[in-house]
Amino acid sequence: MTTQKAKLPIGMFDSGVGGMTVLKALRQRTPCEDVIYLGDTARLPYGTKSPQTISRYAVQCAAELVRRGIKLLVVACNTASAVALASLREAYPDIPVIGVVGPGARAACNATQNGTIAVIATESTIAGGAYQHAIHTIAPETRIIGHPCPLFVSLAEEGWVDGDIPEAVAARYLSPIFNPASGTGNPVVPDTLVLGCTHFPLLAPAIRNVVNSSTVIVDSAATTADTVHAELVRLNLQRPKNGCGTTEYLTTDDAARFARTGTRFLGTPITEREVELVDL
Ligand code: DGL
Repeated sequence: MTTQKAKLPIGMFDSGVGGMTVLKALRQRTPCEDVIYLGDTARLPYGTKSPQTISRYAVQCAAELVRRGIKLLVVACNTASAVALASLREAYPDIPVIGVVGPGARAACNATQNGTIAVIATESTIAGGAYQHAIHTIAPETRIIGHPCPLFVSLAEEGWVDGDIPEAVAARYLSPIFNPASGTGNPVVPDTLVLGCTHFPLLAPAIRNVVNSSTVIVDSAATTADTVHAELVRLNLQRPKNGCGTTEYLTTDDAARFARTGTRFLGTPITEREVELVDL
């Protein structure tokens, strides 16, 4: 029997539009669910901010979604997942909270053959060590090379995702890890690379040029969508399958820009009229 709670939407937030890579995967995995997506574009980037500030922003985003009525919260932002999951669970003990770090770590552990995983993300995500911790909890012997790649965020936001510039930036960040001849002394080249930031999947082609052809590139979007689906089933919170779910878009700044950049990340059009401006 479908409960009233099951009819509520899933709430999802990110620091901006990058989380739409997760929204896209969720729409494919659970097409009947309604989703409210909040992009905190007024305060992007989260990735260079302190853990205290990121946690405060994350709890404010969650509060807006909870106020509207949601049955489950997806933290589509890697930085907020890495830093603020515990604060969110403490603030909203009755709502299941799913982040992207755990699913990404699980996918990487399943993929690696040589036990060496590289994680690239924002500065805060790498500094906080959440991916490192999550991977070591699953596979304690794993060698992990974590590296911040903050410029990838700006490139993806600008839509500069292919050509000379992103390729040069990718080479600068990743050659020392994937090209042992560069003298970093890495004993083993990673066979798996985690894209630990919402924006990085857009740069996957430029990244692919630098890593080895056999390197498995893990993007946590699909695994997160699987985790959400499994949790809805486990908690008997699936919405009845009677047509396509809807998506509501909220942003904290400039609905037109949100619609424009969001369209690029989602891969399907969002119009400015569909976007509601909110003040947190
Ligand atoms: N959404 C952030 C993440 O996945 C990237 C953008 C930011 O720094 O806010 O880490």
